[in-house]
Amino acid sequence: MNDKLLKLQELELLAKAGGGEKRISKQHEKGKLTARERIRLLVDEGSWEEIGMLVKHRSTDFGMEKENYLGDGVVTGYGTVNGRLTYVYAQDFTVFGGSLSETHAEKICKLMDLALDNKAPIIGLNDSGGARIQEGVKSLGGYADIFYRNTQASGVIPQISAIMGPCAGGAVYSPAITDFIMMVDQSSYMFVTGPNVVKTVTNETVTSEELGGSKTHASKSGVTHFTARNDLQCIEMIKKLLSYIPQNYDAKVDDIPYTIDDESRAALNDIIPASSNTPYDMKEVIHELVDPRSFFEVHKDFAENIIVGFSRIGGRSVGIVANQPYALAGVLDVKSSTKAARFVRFCDCFNIPLLVLVDVPGFLPGTDQEWNAIITNGAKLLYAFSESTVPRISVITRKAYGGAYDVMNSKHIGSDLNLAWPTAEIAVMGAKGASEIIFRKEIASADNAEEMLANKEKEYAEQFAHPYKAASRGFIDAVIEPSETRIKLIKGFAMLKDKKKSIPSKKHGNIPL
Ligand code: HXC
Repeated sequence: MNDKLLKLQELELLAKAGGGEKRISKQHEKGKLTARERIRLLVDEGSWEEIGMLVKHRSTDFGMEKENYLGDGVVTGYGTVNGRLTYVYAQDFTVFGGSLSETHAEKICKLMDLALDNKAPIIGLNDSGGARIQEGVKSLGGYADIFYRNTQASGVIPQISAIMGPCAGGAVYSPAITDFIMMVDQSSYMFVTGPNVVKTVTNETVTSEELGGSKTHASKSGVTHFTARNDLQCIEMIKKLLSYIPQNYDAKVDDIPYTIDDESRAALNDIIPASSNTPYDMKEVIHELVDPRSFFEVHKDFAENIIVGFSRIGGRSVGIVANQPYALAGVLDVKSSTKAARFVRFCDCFNIPLLVLVDVPGFLPGTDQEWNAIITNGAKLLYAFSESTVPRISVITRKAYGGAYDVMNSKHIGSDLNLAWPTAEIAVMGAKGASEIIFRKEIASADNAEEMLANKEKEYAEQFAHPYKAASRGFIDAVIEPSETRIKLIKGFAMLKDKKKSIPSKKHGNIPL
C-alpha cells in the first residue's frame, strides 16, 4: 500500500509542477500568477476539488509523445466561492502555452456538463496561445465543442470569463458567448487575428496591446466588461460579481438582511441644475439611492452615456440602467443601446430586478448613427426591456423625450412602477425643437422671430415639459420628492419581490441582432 500511496503522491506532485520551475518563473516575471495560484485565490480555503489531474494528451505528431504533462495545460474542478458551489477551469500557460488540445477541450467540456447539470456558475480563467498547433483540426473541434456548450448553458447558469494572458483566434469566441468578460491590464489581449496577419491583409501596423489589449476592449469595442490592474484584482472582481448574481435561472440571490432606517436623501432635492441643458452626474444620484458602497459598475469605460451595473437596495440585488447626462447629454446611440440591452437581458435571465433612471434627450441624430443601424440597435434595447419579466421600476429625473421615453422602461413596455421627479420633462421633443417645427410659419413671418421663438418655446415648455400630463394619464404612477426616492425604491422592490410573469409560449424570440 505504501508504494501505491507514494506513486499517487508522486503523480500529484508532477501534475502540480505544470510545465516546470523555469516556465513558472517566466510566468511570475510577467506579473502573472499560475493557474493553481489563481484558483487558490478564487475559491474558499479547503473547498477545492480537482477533476482530471492525470489526463494526458494523445498526440503523437511532431514528437509530441515525448512531451506530456499531467493535466494537459488546464486545471479543472469545483469548489465554493463565498460559500456557493462554483465550477472553475484555469488554463496553465506553463504547459504548451495553455494551448487547447483535444484532451484539454474534453476536460473543459466535462466541467461545463457538470456545471449545467448541477446548475451552478462556471468561471473560465483563460491564459492560452489558442489551438494546440501540433493537433490541427482536433483542437478546432475541441473549441467548437466548448462553444456549443457555452450556448446551451447561456441563460441557464452564469458564465464568467477572465482573460489573464493571450487569447487569440477561435479562443475568443468562448468568452464572447459567456455573460461577462474581465481582462487584466497589460498582461492580456484578445483578437481574432494578430498584428502580423493584420499587417499582411490590411497593411495596418498595430501592436498587440493596441489591437486587443484591455484598454482597447474596455473603451473602443466594449468586448470586455471589466478591467483589472492585475491577477489579484481580477479574482476579487469575479468574487464581487458573483455576489450579485444567483446560481442559475431558477434561483434568486439571497437578500442581505436590512432594516429600514432613515432613508431620506436630502441631497437629491438639489441635484438637478436650474437649466435643463446643464449636465449633472447620474452616478451621484445612484450613490444616493443604493446601499452604501454597493454600486458595482459594468462596462465603465464603454458608451459612457449610459451607466449599467449591479447594486444592493435595501439589501436586495438590483441591476441599474441609467442615462448619464455628463456624457453626450445622456443620448441613446448605437453603443449605449447595445450595452444596456445586453445588461437588461442578463438581469432578466437571472431574476435580478431592474431600476432604470431616465434623463434622455432622445436618440442621437446623424449619418454615422443611421448608417450604423441605430434603428436595429435601438430596437435591441426596446426588445430587451419589453421581453423582461423581472420587477422593473423607472424613475424619470429630468428628460424623457421622444422614442427614448418609450424605450427607457416606460409603463407601456411592461414596467411595474413608474416614478417621476417634479423636474421631469416628458414630451415628444424639447421645447425649442418642437416650437421651431409647429410654429415655423408664424415665426418666419414675425417681425421679431427670435422673441417669437422664445415665447413659443416657453409656451410649449409650460404645456409639456413636466410630469403632470403623463401622470394624469397614469403613464407615471407617482410624482415624488427626489429625497424620498430611496425609500420608495426599497418599498417598491419589496412589493414586487414575488412577481411572476411569463412570456407567450415560443421556441425563442427573434431579437433584432
Ligand atoms: C502549441 C504553443 C502554442 C500553441 C504557444 N505555445 N502557443 N504550443 N500550440 N498554439 C508554446 C510555445 O511553443 C512555448 O513552448 C510556450 O507555449 C510559451 O510560448 P512563448 O511563445 O514562449 O510565449 P510568449 O513569448 O509569451 O508568447 C505567447 C504567444 C505565442 C503570443 C501566445 O506563443 C504565440 O503567438 N503562439 C501561437 C498563437 C497562435 O497562433 N495560436 C493559434 C491561433 S489560431 P515552450 O516549450 O518553449 O515553453 C486558433 C484557431 C482556433 O486558435 C479556431 C477555433 C474556431
